[in-house]
Amino acid sequence: MGGEDRGDRAWRGPRLAFPAHHPTAGTLRASLTPAYLGTMSNPRRLLDDLHLRQSQAEQGGGPERLAQQHRKGKLSARERLDLLLDPGSFVELDRFVTHRCTDFGLDQQRIPGDGVVTGHGRVHGRLVYVFSQDFTVFGGSLSETFAEKICKVMDLALRNGAPIIGLNDSGGARIQEGVASLGGYADIFLRNTLASGVVPQLSVVLGPCAGGAVYSPAITDFIFMVRGVSYMFVTGPNVVKTVTHEEVTFDQLGGADVHGQTSGVAHFVHDTEPACLEAVRAVLAYLPQNNLDEPPVVDAGDPVDRREEQLLDLIPDIANRPYDMHQVIAMVLDRESWLEVQPDYAGNILTGFARLGGRPIGVVANQPAVLAGVLDINASLKAARFIRFCDCFNLPLVTFVDVPGFLPGIAQEHGGIIKHGAKLLYAYCEATVPKLTVITRKAYGGAYDVMSSKHIRGDLNLAWPTAEIAVMGPKGAVEILFKKEIEQAPDPEAETARRIEEYTTRFANPYLAASRGFVDDVIDPRNTRPRLIEALRTLATKRDRNPARKHGNLPL
Ligand code: HXC
Repeated sequence: MGGEDRGDRAWRGPRLAFPAHHPTAGTLRASLTPAYLGTMSNPRRLLDDLHLRQSQAEQGGGPERLAQQHRKGKLSARERLDLLLDPGSFVELDRFVTHRCTDFGLDQQRIPGDGVVTGHGRVHGRLVYVFSQDFTVFGGSLSETFAEKICKVMDLALRNGAPIIGLNDSGGARIQEGVASLGGYADIFLRNTLASGVVPQLSVVLGPCAGGAVYSPAITDFIFMVRGVSYMFVTGPNVVKTVTHEEVTFDQLGGADVHGQTSGVAHFVHDTEPACLEAVRAVLAYLPQNNLDEPPVVDAGDPVDRREEQLLDLIPDIANRPYDMHQVIAMVLDRESWLEVQPDYAGNILTGFARLGGRPIGVVANQPAVLAGVLDINASLKAARFIRFCDCFNLPLVTFVDVPGFLPGIAQEHGGIIKHGAKLLYAYCEATVPKLTVITRKAYGGAYDVMSSKHIRGDLNLAWPTAEIAVMGPKGAVEILFKKEIEQAPDPEAETARRIEEYTTRFANPYLAASRGFVDDVIDPRNTRPRLIEALRTLATKRDRNPARKHGNLPL
């Protein structure tokens, strides 16, 4: 679990050591090694042969390449699995698989496992399937058999309904294998797509991930990266220089921070591999095993009837003054349960996992402290994808609303805010998991509709007395409605102020919406937590479904 003590599992350095008698990793014979020839009938000698082979497979590319990997500040494929999985839970499959390529002298270099360690293990005692690419073997490049090994564990994950976690560290398609390797990638892409929404798929990028190879992580649910270690790009710096004459380093083009802050490709960025792998475990603690499973409920250790006095003083007196929505989240949800997704991207909307009364939920919240919480292209994409993930995996959605509308501007319009904003609307509309909404302050215009409103199947929509539910803010409204009156008034400023006050009293409150049943209740902010927990309980048996169809046509 997120907070569990894993000090005993901290990284302590290389775990592999070559036994003195051991041949360095290199070629693997399909037949018995000479020392064991003629001992077929002796089971103990055969066991020795087996152990030798197992040990050889564990060496990957051998001690020199392993040392090189460590010199780069990177862990090995097996060390990573040690940190990811519950101690002693890893069960390896296909460790004796080798490639079938005979070109470019590869027939002389067959390494057992062929550069990817695959199998299953446990995280918090629950089954997961894993693959871990081994850069020490042919640069972790993907051969036909390498791809087959990954496909095998993906198929098992799908069949047995368990998450699949991929640790990526690869030079891409194994160049010597040509189209066989490309076909292998396509086999994986297909499985990523078919598994989407059926089992959680997590991608951890711990080295290069380049070219078409990026599209496997991109299809999966979450991408984790490590600063200074991971990079992802479709075309590398050299190609960029040739084509666009731009000079850029690997890190500037596709490093962890670029994808965590600018492109939005990465969901979690960490400073070290152990921290990153710990984060994978933390995320899994919120997720069900598959789309037919329920997320794991824990003992919250936080009273369900806890009322926070400070919630009363959170909303500033002046409507345009910011406050930090993180504070609402911290006060209302189970203590220490907030795990933010994409914390450094599109900060005007917050997404993350949390718990309410011990039940895992997905949280979406406008953030008034960044760009006044406005919805723009990036915020729409970030939230839409997260909402769809939660809906796939039975995570109720709790939405905190304080939104002045969609961001105006040429860049936004030309960038396609229409189609991107539509994704957010579509995601909320199609979601059938329990949807709870709390309007803390502004809910203006189309953004009111979009942010999990009652009209799009919000199950419980609450408003604080500070809520302002209207077509637009008072100033903008009176300037349109009373343009002439203001212009002709002896004191236009005073007239504007009078009209704003009139409008605010009439429209900038939650009661018009409440009078129509568009919010279910206006509540004392201090009661937010108990009300949401009670609602989650009542919705535990919710049944709702969309019309039968092949699939909807999400506005891409
Ligand atoms: C075969 C490869 C390889 C590859 C690396 N190696 N990439 N072998 N196929 N794709 C081998 C190297 O030859 C070398 O072997 C060993 O792995 C370590 O590589 P280094 O270059 O020494 O490591 P490093 O300096 O860390 O550089 C890492 C790297 C670089 C940046 C990833 O290796 C590189 O540029 N590789 C090629 C990347 C690439 O263009 N891949 C194809 C992309 S297209 P030796 O024995 O000499 O030590 C693609 C298409 C996918 O992937 C399409 C899907 C639809």
